[in-house]
Amino acid sequence: MKKVTIVGAGSVGSTCADVLAKKNFLDEVVLIDIKEGIGEGKALDIWESSAINHFDTRVKGFTNDYTKTIGSDVVVITSGLPRKPGMSRDDLISTNAKIVRSVTNSIMSASPEAIIIIVSNPLDVMTYAAHIESGKTANKVFGQAGVLDTARYRAFIASELSISPMDIQALLMGGHGDTMVPLPRYTTVSGIPVTELIAKDTLEAIVNRTKKGGGEIVNLLGTSAWYAPGASAAQMVESVIQNQNHIFPCCVRLDGQWGLKDVYLGAPVKLGRNGVEEIIEIKLNDQEMALLNTSAGHVKEVMAVYDNIMG
Ligand code: 2OP
Repeated sequence: MKKVTIVGAGSVGSTCADVLAKKNFLDEVVLIDIKEGIGEGKALDIWESSAINHFDTRVKGFTNDYTKTIGSDVVVITSGLPRKPGMSRDDLISTNAKIVRSVTNSIMSASPEAIIIIVSNPLDVMTYAAHIESGKTANKVFGQAGVLDTARYRAFIASELSISPMDIQALLMGGHGDTMVPLPRYTTVSGIPVTELIAKDTLEAIVNRTKKGGGEIVNLLGTSAWYAPGASAAQMVESVIQNQNHIFPCCVRLDGQWGLKDVYLGAPVKLGRNGVEEIIEIKLNDQEMALLNTSAGHVKEVMAVYDNIMG
């Protein structure tokens, strides 16, 4: 029995459930929300698409009843407020920290063995919150950010070159915010370094657009994105449950890699049955290292804000 719970049946959570159902490798997806009827309604709507979208995965929704989540292999936490225009992800901390903490406790009582994937913002610090609260080893609690940020980066490069986004291999590190560190040196198009295909200033503009990719959607919609974030989380779930061992950039607790310790930051990891199977400590040049240090410094500041709020 392969079972995944998604906490938060808002746009990101329900998109993640929908993408997972369509992938058709799970027995059950549970969608749970604190608001009466939302989990049930979204789950029923997705399940009613099964005959058309060709899947058997049972999608079930519940209102805040964690007994229905018992035995989940993976739990994805999407709960919390989304951004509004003018807000940074960090502005969400006090509200979302309390929500993520309480959700983590409920998950732990229902599925103590589950691997936890965080999607709530501010992402890096919410991963920290869930990790501390769960008491799990760090390989079992990690955050979705790099998969989304590289997906955006790949989409922009594909548009620029009029090529398939699937031909682009890309890597990105650091926090999920304006200090994220896209790595053009580690970006290739079917094996060709992207720097041979795109002029320096155009690539720089793409990197900057990627850094502000979440904000671009918030400005257009008045709320944050869901299709790409939901699909990104689903891809991570698949790599874990199917033991695919994909190398994805994910938010993980660093323990000395790149000289950084006790900070939750995007880094390339191998994702398999045990969650983070390995953090891959790629070589960074001085300039990349400086950007990563700046990003780590920023995340540490927000972690300190969290520590203060929680006393
Ligand atoms: C984003 O970047 C919601 O943080 C998410 O769109």
